[in-house]
Amino acid sequence: MSDKTAKLSLSGGEHEFSVHDGTIGPSVVDISSLYKETGAFTYDPGFTSTASCDSKITFIDGDEGTLLHRGYPIEQLAEQGDFLEVCYLLLYGELPTKTQKHDFDYRVTRHTMVHEQMMRFFTGFRRDAHPMAVMCGTVGALSAFYHDSTDISDPHQRMVASMRMIAKMPTIAAMAYKYHIGQPFVYPQNDLDYASNFLRMCFAVPCEEYQVNPVLARAMDRIFILHADHEQNASTSTVRLAGSSGANPFACIAAGIACLWGPAHGGANEAALNMLGEIGSVDRIPEYIARAKDKNDPFRLMGFGHRVYKNYDPRAKIMQKTTHEVLGELGIKDDPLLEVAMELEKIALHDDYFVEKKLYPNIDFYSGITLRALGFPTTMFTVLFAVARTVGWIAQWKEMIEDPSQRIGRPRQLYTGEPKRDYVPMNKRS
Ligand code: ACO
Repeated sequence: MSDKTAKLSLSGGEHEFSVHDGTIGPSVVDISSLYKETGAFTYDPGFTSTASCDSKITFIDGDEGTLLHRGYPIEQLAEQGDFLEVCYLLLYGELPTKTQKHDFDYRVTRHTMVHEQMMRFFTGFRRDAHPMAVMCGTVGALSAFYHDSTDISDPHQRMVASMRMIAKMPTIAAMAYKYHIGQPFVYPQNDLDYASNFLRMCFAVPCEEYQVNPVLARAMDRIFILHADHEQNASTSTVRLAGSSGANPFACIAAGIACLWGPAHGGANEAALNMLGEIGSVDRIPEYIARAKDKNDPFRLMGFGHRVYKNYDPRAKIMQKTTHEVLGELGIKDDPLLEVAMELEKIALHDDYFVEKKLYPNIDFYSGITLRALGFPTTMFTVLFAVARTVGWIAQWKEMIEDPSQRIGRPRQLYTGEPKRDYVPMNKRS
């Protein structure tokens, strides 16, 4: 706590509020007593200036383009770590020792299978359902299958639910994919690492041997790392808000998945790839740049801009490198979408509109091309994001539940509707 204060004059009264400093990043004015003291609320649609909690998990400096998990830069984690190591770090605050890592991998691996009855649950969905719709339903249903880890007041049950969620999410995602394309479900294989196992569950069929390509598995693992957590974004805030009422963690993660689905959030990689396909060739880029700048046209360059990053998204740089590695490994030399993407990026980075508004490519700009090359249809892109982000949601949910000062989240509003009025019977309405 700092001894800095902020003063507010309101309706002739003077009020003083304490200012808290974080380890790094902007200070916050603590207005939690504002209503009690002044009878007024603050107004901040979209929460652009509001810290909803304090957290030790992830730090972003959007102006510098920095992303740290528990203090470690994302570039170092993505280059040198693996996804389960990052999961451990996010959940427990420190990098694991060799023994801790071995134990953690073992515990996650032993939870990869889902209740056999879930197969039947899947078959209730239409085959042409969007896999994200299936994810919302099946993850929400986990609390019906795993009653024994829904008591949030029990630390052991919280731990088991966390393990189950991280371990089962790839299995459920792969099942959503297999169901969508009409192939049999593939059971997890526990001697494979997390990413290899996921690729196998998605792309193996019972009638053939499936060899995991280590370059592609490493790329998948890196994609998971890059999406693991991103502090208080829309879906994470949704998970926290749902969890603040005491809802069980499976239900909270299902809420996060629903929020992630939107094209302004996790759905952007699907939208970005669709957009690159729609542009189709380099010569049509100027037309789309003009549309993005036109105030009367709702079109936006998908994969550009970010609420927090007003600089290059550090994850986008690593993603771009991963894209080249994957295309190189698969021998894809002239990918027309990559060509459009590179040219679009070049033009937008020099265009006054994008420069002035600080609109840089975000991670979704390149992830779609990579995921498509790995063999995933666009409808699966947000599902993969959800698999990776599950650990971030869980870590943030756990942090909130373990905070003794935690209360139910309940935002206020500026009411602009009708003032009080009397009911008019039907026969007297004009
Ligand atoms: N293309 C064209 N113009 C844009 C874009 C874009 N992609 N993004 C923002 N702008 C413009 C807006 O029109 C606005 O212009 P104005 O000031 O003249 O009104 C200005 O830049 C600021 O935009 P806001 O929407 O106010 O910024 P906000 O922080 O609310 O939105 C968002 C951020 C939603 C990511 C936005 O940039 C966007 O829609 N981008 C495309 C979708 C996308 O790529 N989402 C992925 C986000 S990353 C993730 O979820 C992993």
